[in-house]
Amino acid sequence: MVAQYRSRFPLIALAGLALLAALWAGLVRLGWGWPPLLRTLPAVHGPLMVAGALGTLIGLERAVALGRRWTYAAPLLTGLGALALIAGLPGLVGPVLITLGSLGVVAIFVVIVRRQPALFTATMGLGTLAWLAGNGLWLAGWPISGVVSWWVGFLVLTIAGERLELGRILRLSRGEQVSFALVIAIFLLGLIFSALAFDMGVRLSGIALVALALWLLRHDIARRTVRQAGLTRFIAISLLSGYIWLGLSGLLWLFLGGVTAGPRYDAMLHTVFLGFVMSMIFGHMPIILPAVSGLALAFEPAFYGHLALLHASLLLRVVGDLAGSVPARQWGGLLNVVALLLFLANTARAARRSRAQQLGKAVQ
Ligand code: HEM
Repeated sequence: MVAQYRSRFPLIALAGLALLAALWAGLVRLGWGWPPLLRTLPAVHGPLMVAGALGTLIGLERAVALGRRWTYAAPLLTGLGALALIAGLPGLVGPVLITLGSLGVVAIFVVIVRRQPALFTATMGLGTLAWLAGNGLWLAGWPISGVVSWWVGFLVLTIAGERLELGRILRLSRGEQVSFALVIAIFLLGLIFSALAFDMGVRLSGIALVALALWLLRHDIARRTVRQAGLTRFIAISLLSGYIWLGLSGLLWLFLGGVTAGPRYDAMLHTVFLGFVMSMIFGHMPIILPAVSGLALAFEPAFYGHLALLHASLLLRVVGDLAGSVPARQWGGLLNVVALLLFLANTARAARRSRAQQLGKAVQ
């Protein structure tokens, strides 16, 4: 059964490599004083995380969902782009490959939205457009600090669209759908505005992030499923805690505005990237992994270990960022990496156990 998924493993491996390289680069940037391995690696931490690791996995998930051969070109291009960045290839090889890959994901979404025109597909499609726009600006020579809010838009809208899709179970009223669309529109307006008046644009997007967090906290089915047990409860806790980080991030964007480097920049970005995005990935992994790799993933209470460590270490890092404590910021960042590695280890162990159980049942 797993054989049909085997062709996807090289893409998953490319995403994994990008993640590990990005984690190392992030620690070097936090000032741990370890060798950067390659001189150019610390500078590409952000693109490796957003495009190389997450962009490749999201592209792969979409390609699997659509089931057409050409769609696999998108995650392949972003994965190869990540490889070019890691290898420190000169010129624009990495950014060009990544931008082409994001164009591929946009093309996938054109097909998806035409097949199923709905608010949730449009939201995810707009997320990929934000990614493509950010990549285009990056390719045109804009600094990463100037395009990173577009990359945030990619991940936030992709996740919000996914949650909206599941929210259909709750039968959202017309007014609730309109308020969601309004929040997304304000966020996008902030992004466009940031190209003209950076500080104002970031603050406007911050207001939308707070509003989106409140909307999700109010309407997501996680509010109900958190009372259940096992995997369902774990997923709900991951989602709800992610929404709290999203709201906190929005507040930082709103009050700090157009910061482009340093500890406050670190807090503004990682409350959303680690607090929101990673919590959502932790929560969704038991659903995504079987779809993409064919490996089942049974819930284990140990999953709470990586989730708790992520939140505790991020709190330490952000307090360090805002209070000017270098050790808190550095230890928080290091423990963030431990939390992500623990997540990978727990996931691999659970997948192995589930597979052994499946094989055991098949033999009986
Ligand atoms: C897990 C541990 C992580 C560590 C230790 C880390 C570390 C860092 C550091 C030190 C910076 C520079 C901040 C500054 O200018 O002072 C940074 C920037 C950034 N990080 Fe992370 N990060 C981590 C996770 C993530 C994740 C999960 C994402 C995305 C999903 C991400 C995306 C970014 C981006 C886009 C930037 C901006 C890069 C730039 O301006 O060049 N990081 N990170």
